[in-house]
Parts: sequence; C-alpha cells; structure tokens
Amino acid sequence: MSNLLMMNELTNEEIMEILYDAQQYKLGDGWKPSKMMFVSNLFFEPSTRTRFSFEVAEKKLGLEVLNFSAEHSSVQKGETLYDTVKTLESIGANAVVIRHQEDHFFEDLIGKVSIPIINAGDGCGHHPTQSLLDLLTIQQEFGSFKDLTVSIHGDIKHSRVARSNAEVLTRLGANVLFSGPKEWQDPLNTNGTYVEVDEAISQSDVVMLLRIQHERHEQKANAQNYLSEYGLTKEREKQMKKHAIIMHPAPVNRDVEIDGDLIECERSRIFKQIENGVFARMAVLKRALQQINHIQEVNKHVIC
Ligand code: CP
Repeated sequence: MSNLLMMNELTNEEIMEILYDAQQYKLGDGWKPSKMMFVSNLFFEPSTRTRFSFEVAEKKLGLEVLNFSAEHSSVQKGETLYDTVKTLESIGANAVVIRHQEDHFFEDLIGKVSIPIINAGDGCGHHPTQSLLDLLTIQQEFGSFKDLTVSIHGDIKHSRVARSNAEVLTRLGANVLFSGPKEWQDPLNTNGTYVEVDEAISQSDVVMLLRIQHERHEQKANAQNYLSEYGLTKEREKQMKKHAIIMHPAPVNRDVEIDGDLIECERSRIFKQIENGVFARMAVLKRALQQINHIQEVNKHVIC
C-alpha cells in the first residue's frame, strides 16, 4: 500500500522518483489515471496551502475530489476517525488525505483500511508533503543536497516540518543546523546541531524559518523581541552567503520570524515553495493511485 505517513519510510530512491515526477508535472507532463478515481481530503486542523494545493493537484490529475468538513460531518455525532475513513472507502474513495491534530493519528488506520493514506500533517509529528515540496525547491536551486548547509530556525520542538526536513536532509547528505530559543530545542531530534542565530545564518546555503506554533504551546509565547533575538532581520539577511536562499513553510508571522520586507525579496523562495506544493502533491497522488490501478489490472487478468 503506497501510504505516505512519514519521510523516514521513503527510501532515497523513492524520494528522487517523487521529485522527478513533480518536476515533470511542473513541465506539464506526467501520469494521469485512465478511469474515474475519487480522493477525499479530511482536514481536522486549519490549512490554506496544504488543503488547496492538494485540491488543485487532484483536479489537475483529473480526480474527483470529495471535500470533507469535520464540522459538517458525523464526527460531530462522535464518529471515530477509523469509522469515517472506512465509510469513505465504502462509498468509493480511492485514497484519503488527512490532516489531524493528533501525533501519529494514522496508527488507528494502518492495516485496517485498504486505500492509501496520505499524511497532510499530524500534530507535532510529521509533514511529509511539505518536506517533499521543500526538497523540490532546494533541488531546483542547487541541483543536489550533498554538502549543503541548511539552518532551521525557531520553534523546533513543536514543528513537524523541522522533524521531517532534518531527517531527510541529513540522510541526503546536507549539514543541518538548528537555531532558536532554548525552551523550543528538541532533545529527541538529533538530526542537527544547535548554534547561535548569527552563526547559522552566515554559514547557510538555505535559511529555513519556522512559524511559532502558538496553538501547540501550553503558555502563550511572548513574541515581542523574537525578531531581533532569533528571527531574520534585514541586518542578518546582509550576512547571508551571496547565493543563499530564504525558505519558510508559511503561514508567516510577519515581523516575528522574518522582517516583513524580506518575505518577497530576491532571495526568498517562500511563494516558490507554495507553487511547488501542487507539483509535489501531484507526484505523491500518482505514487498512491498508480499502484491501485496496477493491482486492479492484475486482479482483472487473474479473474479472466
Ligand atoms: N505549510 C502549511 O502546511 O500550510 P497550511 O497550514 O496553510 O496548510
């Protein structure tokens, strides 16, 4: 089953295949299903980029989209995630895309449903499609990941983006640096080295900023001096290497993680990341659905 749950389940070869397919889709080429297929998008947490780029990706592939809204569904009557997904499978969904507030929500589903599950973000856990679109953006810029220095800044502890990216970038040969407030360091994430913000910014080929995840904090963080202490100010941007780029998964807290004037500066790839999200998600859907097509073709021949 071609689930996509965490980046560490993909081999380097599979990652390169997805990035190749994403680039093909960007060039206007690539696989499309030959028959009607349905995909359901289940978002239990707010989203703009992931939700709508999945929907655009699905429509570009010619898929029928079943948009699910938790507040207008039987979840309000107490239906579990498992029963909801099993219901969509019975109705005819060929795959489900799920964002959920619980870390590892997918453990309740693995082995119990027979359609692919694509993780669109689980709590503080993982965000594999964000990671793939980030990799695509870095690959387009530098051609490869080996020996690049990528610094990840800010709320490392609560960030599923930091977890997914640090693991895969390290595995692909990049040097990952972390920087940010001590209370948001993550001792469980050993795929990077903590350094001071100015050192991280001046050494990096990619400066990746993270949103402060206010919704996952027990106490509201004071963001008043955050930009000057930990963020990308105009002064720090001048210390970046000549060719270095700025990334942020967005949404951005303007003038907190990054000076608002830098969001669309020449070095910024923030909107390029969002654009690449459509192509990366098309490639992920292809991986999930092509296998179903293949299994159904094989079964048809066996029955014949
Ligand atoms: N980067 C990201 O996941 O954005 P959304 O929360 O808007 O989907």
